[in-house]
Amino acid sequence: MTTTMTTASTAPVNPPEHPAHPRSPEYAEQLIRGRRAVRAFRPDPLPEETLRAVFSLAGAAPSNSNTQPWHVEVVSGAARDRLSEDLRAAHADQRMSPDFPYQPERYRGTYDRRRREAGAVMYDALGIGRDDHAGRDAFNAESLDFYGAPHVALLFLPATAEERMAADVGMYGQTLLLALTAHGIASCPQGLLSFYADTVRESLGIADRKLLFGVSFGYADPAAPVNSIAVPRAELAETTRFHF
Ligand SMILES: Cc1cc2nc3c(=O)[nH]c(=O)nc-3n(C[C@H](O)[C@H](O)[C@H](O)COP(=O)(O)O)c2cc1C
Repeated sequence: MTTTMTTASTAPVNPPEHPAHPRSPEYAEQLIRGRRAVRAFRPDPLPEETLRAVFSLAGAAPSNSNTQPWHVEVVSGAARDRLSEDLRAAHADQRMSPDFPYQPERYRGTYDRRRREAGAVMYDALGIGRDDHAGRDAFNAESLDFYGAPHVALLFLPATAEERMAADVGMYGQTLLLALTAHGIASCPQGLLSFYADTVRESLGIADRKLLFGVSFGYADPAAPVNSIAVPRAELAETTRFHF
């Protein structure tokens, strides 16, 4: 019987530049800062090869001990329309069932201020006033149709999920958003979809995995005013301390 030994890779940590893909901080700037949450999509679906390429790339995300604890359901066509209907019915009946409770009171001080500012920028672009609670509710309900996107990815964790696995799925989520951006595809991460976890599981035939969030994606509708917004980021010194 032969024993297979795993040999350490001799690949350097920083791979050498590929002639066809020179290292480019400018491209990183363009890719990372060029991604925005898009909230109005054109209905045309993406080619299947593009879907496979993007989700294959997203799977390169890092995770604790390489456990890759994500399970992703990519939903298009009739299944997408059925899921949207199921979600809107659950919303109308107030059948909320989040696997991870949403507790806005945990966002205090600076975090609460940033949350409100982002909301104000978005609702301003939509022409929905600060006190127009009905208008805001209607917009949220409408977002359960994935802002009109032809595809939605639902990001699940194992039934035994805890915070560390959620961090891994967060890594997967951002890798997915950047992979989409690099392919010219717009996206919106939607925590709201996870408020109806039982509905999503039932609609997609999932037994016991936990739902963290969804990502709606497709080609952006460039004419929609809501897609022109840019929300600010904190100054570096507000979030990051360097110890030299
Ligand atoms: C985990 C997560 C959940 C989010 N949930 C929603 C959501 O339910 N609805 C929505 O319109 N945007 C949602 N967003 C988008 C954020 O509002 C958006 O990323 C943030 O305001 C920064 O804007 P930007 O992505 O355009 O830079 C979510 C983002 C993340 C990362």
